[in-house]
Amino acid sequence: MEVVPSLLSADFSRLKEEIRIMEKVGARRLHLDVMDGHFVPNITFGPFIIESIRKLTSLHLETHLMIENPAKYIEAFIRAGSDTVIIHIEASADIIRDLKKIRELGAKAGIVLNPPTSFESVEPYFEYIDHFLVMTVNPGFGGQKMINAALSKVTLAGPYQKQFGFPIEVDGGININTIEEARAAGTDLFVAGSAVFSARNPSESFKALSEKLLSA
Ligand code: DX5
Ligand code: ZN
Repeated sequence: MEVVPSLLSADFSRLKEEIRIMEKVGARRLHLDVMDGHFVPNITFGPFIIESIRKLTSLHLETHLMIENPAKYIEAFIRAGSDTVIIHIEASADIIRDLKKIRELGAKAGIVLNPPTSFESVEPYFEYIDHFLVMTVNPGFGGQKMINAALSKVTLAGPYQKQFGFPIEVDGGININTIEEARAAGTDLFVAGSAVFSARNPSESFKALSEKLLSA
């Protein structure tokens, strides 16, 4: 189990420093939130910024694509240095084709579903994935309250994880009070944006979240 800092809430004017702090405190992955202003009502960054992040760190970069028509951009995000590319079931016109493309280009293929989307809608695709992400907020913004009911999808994915071996990650509203419930559902990776970077001391905050996982 590990905490995965989401750079969405980092201070981009000191990005290098923020990444170094996460490396020093033991983070092994970084979560990168790409938003296009169409699939979600917010815009963040694209491959160009990810290329810069790639130059700053050798941590595993997981790119969460909250964009329409992800197929069109998969290659650019992998060339920019993404190790895992995660696409929304709600956004892809041909999910199997897109997951295969990610793998063919040498990255790990992830699938993600929004809180209102049923678990059944992802069930046919588990054999094609290397990463399963469950949204526990409606995507678009950091700092929202966790929708606890979405955690049932983590538990439902358990038998498929046994069969296929992918890690299960949750995204949205993870903090020192909610991380335990997410762990109990069977989560392996815990994305934390505001709980880490909006805290007074991001390093301490990352540590506290990680220790909470170990102490459970
Ligand atoms: C939300 C993003 C999240 C975001 C989580 O749309 O996908 O990755 O960074 O932020 P927190 O941890 O603040 O809920
Ligand atoms: Zn995310």
